[in-house]
Amino acid sequence: MKKYNKPILAICVLIVVFSWFPLLSRAANFPGAVSLKCEYLINPIGIDAIHPRLTWQLNTDKRGVQQTAYRILVGTDSVAVSKGEGSIWDSGESKGDVQLVAYSGKSLTPFTKYFWLVEVWGRNHEKIGSSAVTSFETGIMDSKNWQGAWISDGHDVTRKPAPYFRKTFEIIKKIKSARAYIAVGGLYELSINGKKVGNHRLDPMYTRFDRRTLYVTYDVTSHLQNGKNAVGVLLGNGWYNHQSTAVWYFHQAPWRGRPTFCLDMRITYEDGSVETVSSGADWKTSLSPLIFNSIYTAEHYDARLEQPSWNTAAFDDSKWNEIELRAAPSQNIVAQVLHPIRNVETIPAKSVKRLNDTTYVFDLGRNIAGVSRIQVKGPSGTVLRLKHGERLYPNGHVDMSNIDVHYRPTDQSDPFQTDIFTLKGSGEESFMPYFNYKGFQYVEVTSTTPVTLTQSSLTGYFMHSDVPVVGTIKSSNPVIDKISWATNNAYLSNLFGYPTDCPQREKNGWTGDAHIAIETGLYGFDGITIYEKWLADHRDEQQANGVLPAIIPTSGWGYQWANGPDWTSTIAIIPWNIYLFYGDPRLLNDCYDNIKRYVNHIEQMSPSGLTSWGLGDWVPVKSQSPVELTSSIYYYVDASILAKAANILGKSDDALYYQALATKIQNAINAKYLNKETGIYGSGLQTELSAPLQWGIVPESLKSKVAANLAKRVEADNFHLDVGLLGTKTLLNALSENGYADIAYKVAAQESYPSWGWWIVNGATTLYENWAIDAQSDISLNHIMFGEIGAWLYKGLGGIKPDPKQPGFKNILLEPHFTEGLNQFEATHESPYGKIASSWKRSGKKITYQVVVPPNATATLTLPIKKGNKIYEGRTQIKVNSQDITIVNLSENQANYQLQSGNYQFEIR
Ligand code: BGC
Repeated sequence: MKKYNKPILAICVLIVVFSWFPLLSRAANFPGAVSLKCEYLINPIGIDAIHPRLTWQLNTDKRGVQQTAYRILVGTDSVAVSKGEGSIWDSGESKGDVQLVAYSGKSLTPFTKYFWLVEVWGRNHEKIGSSAVTSFETGIMDSKNWQGAWISDGHDVTRKPAPYFRKTFEIIKKIKSARAYIAVGGLYELSINGKKVGNHRLDPMYTRFDRRTLYVTYDVTSHLQNGKNAVGVLLGNGWYNHQSTAVWYFHQAPWRGRPTFCLDMRITYEDGSVETVSSGADWKTSLSPLIFNSIYTAEHYDARLEQPSWNTAAFDDSKWNEIELRAAPSQNIVAQVLHPIRNVETIPAKSVKRLNDTTYVFDLGRNIAGVSRIQVKGPSGTVLRLKHGERLYPNGHVDMSNIDVHYRPTDQSDPFQTDIFTLKGSGEESFMPYFNYKGFQYVEVTSTTPVTLTQSSLTGYFMHSDVPVVGTIKSSNPVIDKISWATNNAYLSNLFGYPTDCPQREKNGWTGDAHIAIETGLYGFDGITIYEKWLADHRDEQQANGVLPAIIPTSGWGYQWANGPDWTSTIAIIPWNIYLFYGDPRLLNDCYDNIKRYVNHIEQMSPSGLTSWGLGDWVPVKSQSPVELTSSIYYYVDASILAKAANILGKSDDALYYQALATKIQNAINAKYLNKETGIYGSGLQTELSAPLQWGIVPESLKSKVAANLAKRVEADNFHLDVGLLGTKTLLNALSENGYADIAYKVAAQESYPSWGWWIVNGATTLYENWAIDAQSDISLNHIMFGEIGAWLYKGLGGIKPDPKQPGFKNILLEPHFTEGLNQFEATHESPYGKIASSWKRSGKKITYQVVVPPNATATLTLPIKKGNKIYEGRTQIKVNSQDITIVNLSENQANYQLQSGNYQFEIR
């Protein structure tokens, strides 16, 4: 008998067991539903919604999975919920394939943790399984539930140092749990017993403080201790008290005030009793070493003024001052329910250059939004100035001339993007701003006395709203991958609780930039919470006549300029895209009246159906398309979104009316701009042709003619773009969706001027504001404005698109393009139903195409083919319908299939 080597045998057994183990363990406690979220957050606390939205995903990669029924159980006892009892809500077995349900059980009460789970049933009514128990917790819910007073330190808006506040209190009983609720006019850092609470930055998010004030909830159970405790608050100005002066008049904002806050710390003891420690007359205040802070420019910190342990119980505050009681900034104090800003990425300096013994220039190697932290040793009173910029002069110093152009300082005390740090002189000291961020790649540090700095003395932190990543792009062309990365960097650099134009020069919530970038944002990031908050800002800013300002929020600037439909159509376009990407009509519903007022206003202004209200194709390469054409197209877009929203929300009279209005606008545009003989709009520029195509203005019968003209125009432009902001949204899409995907790719992958690739080959790590690198104006190096290319990669190459008839990717439109010149491409997107993947590879004449359709979703696949191609799925040629693949249509250049959920590998030979 052959002798087996014992160790090898053991390894073989282990391999067999382990290869089965995942299956076994999954079968044993296989959760049928996963990724449970409430209001699009995992286990959120501090929710104010009366009918919070609950969502989940199915956990299986089997083919053809469909949910036919679900049951939601909600209760306050997690064990009871896990046993199938829903004392607060038992939805019962509800028929349906939805994975987004608004809570509709008993009225929710404030300050309560609710546990929930969902059970799901499949196609043949077999139980797929149930989820684990998860939770959400309500917050204050009603302004009347606040107990604290609004307090400040009694100084006026011109006072520069940031105020500290503190209070001590005793805890005698055993704590079960504790929550801190803090509402602020301005910015804050909350600390308990000397430790900062949480890792949010720049909280609360910017709103029009006099119309809506946000509060934030923290679990502070682990911060508290038996015996004496201290709570400390440091307040910053943010946009509430804008002391820097610039062209948008934020220093004259109607809400402006010395920062103020209201805090309730609600402590629940093991014996069931509750005690609330609140802001009030018994707090004390003092000025902090943060001697100046501006969200717009920078921060100044004098370490000699530090009061060590100011936020601990042992600190002697006898020299501190009384506080001042204040009115709330607004009567509308609502929960901040979103992904907060954080220091998301740590970026060590890539190099440092010593220019002389008091001047060093650090290079992060990439452009970011955020802050730097300096670590340094030096004599007391040494003043360090840290100047942050995106460019260097030839002599190696930081050049801010591209970003300080709208700043109007009244003296030298507040230099742009320049932190000022005064050392206390005791060993290694460090500084990172509390209430400011900047856009920069380089930091020039100068000191009043020589200090020694090395590469590790300075670190950058990339800050932004910490939205989960939900999209990936990978290809065989490194320039395309870098464009995708730079686009994401620019997008995130401009996401700070509201979308901005640039993180340095303005930090303004420019509407136009944001609606152009909405798809790029939503393919790549789970942004719904940020956009829902920003659309609430829109509702706060809209005038009774429907007019919206060009920047949101605003101090009042922007109602008079730049606020035509090409910019402020955010009110319609963003809710519509949220509906497409999440399948959730709530934002459309919340904004419905606002969209209507907006469209009615333009209708009143422009009875002919044409409007010239707007800026047009902003920062074009060279050709300028007529403003009336582009603005009227956006007017059409808004009217048609309104008509569709009316249909979805069951407002049939409105649906008819606004559909007719949309048709009227379309006809007016075509009557004036379309030459039906030639199929040319206007003078046939790239924007003039692509915008009507992409926004659905072109009559069906002329589409291919107009598209052919566009292709010819691009060819005549040597396969380079010749568009501005509005044209970037439409050019690539109009080409790839109308038979010219190869040309679209050629333009997208271009590496010479003007193109995205031109920036990349010249070292860009973000997107720029102008096509020419040496342009004289509009030269921010971190603008998301030209960022539609990020979305186009998902659509034009990966072909992943939401189906308006079954939004939220319930049905996915999969229309990949295997473009000439590219050999491999992969796009993935984490949709509400789970991960969608679309990836293709060319080997010789063969294309391998892999697809993932998440459970409970379907896909309509359109494969581009050539005459004589055969299509295989796995090893089988597709000739007839199978259980998971239905042949919808076959033609010489296209194969259409309807796919059930699951993983597929196609081959086109
Ligand atoms: C901003 C742009 C914005 C434009 C509109 C610029 O200053 O940075 O991104 O859309 O103004 O006028």
